[in-house]
Amino acid sequence: MSLKPFIMDHPLIQHKISLLRDKNTGSKEFRELVAEVAMLMCYEATRDLPLKEVEIETPVAVAKTKVISGRKLAFVPILRAGIGMVDGVLNLVPAAKVGHIGLYRDPETLKPVEYYCKLPVDVQEREVIVIDPMLATGGSAVDAISLIRAKGVKNIKYMCIIAAPEGLKALSDAHPDVQIYCAALDEKLNEHGYIVPGLGDAGDRIFGTK
Ligand code: PRP
Ligand code: URA
Repeated sequence: MSLKPFIMDHPLIQHKISLLRDKNTGSKEFRELVAEVAMLMCYEATRDLPLKEVEIETPVAVAKTKVISGRKLAFVPILRAGIGMVDGVLNLVPAAKVGHIGLYRDPETLKPVEYYCKLPVDVQEREVIVIDPMLATGGSAVDAISLIRAKGVKNIKYMCIIAAPEGLKALSDAHPDVQIYCAALDEKLNEHGYIVPGLGDAGDRIFGTK
């Protein structure tokens, strides 16, 4: 049994996604919105981080209070478009390490092609959150997570902004223990493997390459 995908429908996230979808939103605003949505999503995706009790002296008295304990995090953006989410998640978890996996989809076969992989040296001791704005066929996410698993990582989550039903199924089937977080579940893929209605090519819109 695979974990049920978590769809974040917070009004602020939904509002920002509407702006992302708008073809008239330029690269500067698009980049800012991707980072903001990533930060809001990260808040939810880290909800289960373990806490420990500590004593802190306030100006008034000693408080028994809580801080995050134990589990260390790494974020792994899938290049290129995942880079757009890094600043947002690091705003919330500045101590996290960042690894990178470079994959691009072959436009003919739609299969992912790996061209880069650099992960933190102690990645197997960390909880890894893979980040990528788009989950389309699911090929990139499935391969990226297989690569991370092959390095001995046990605890992996996956966070995307927009998912297609096809990608969600492929990812849940391939990695049933990976919790998926997405902010919108769209209708379908078109014949070119683009999410409909989606937001177009996330990498091109972030980096202004088209
Ligand atoms: C996009 C996106 C995902 C991938 C999703 O990257 O950022 O990584 O497509 O598609 P899939 O689920 O069908 O694998 P793309 O291959 O366009 O590369 P880019 O980020 O370098 O533009
Ligand atoms: N990659 C994108 O950037 N957009 C899509 O719609 C599908 C894959």
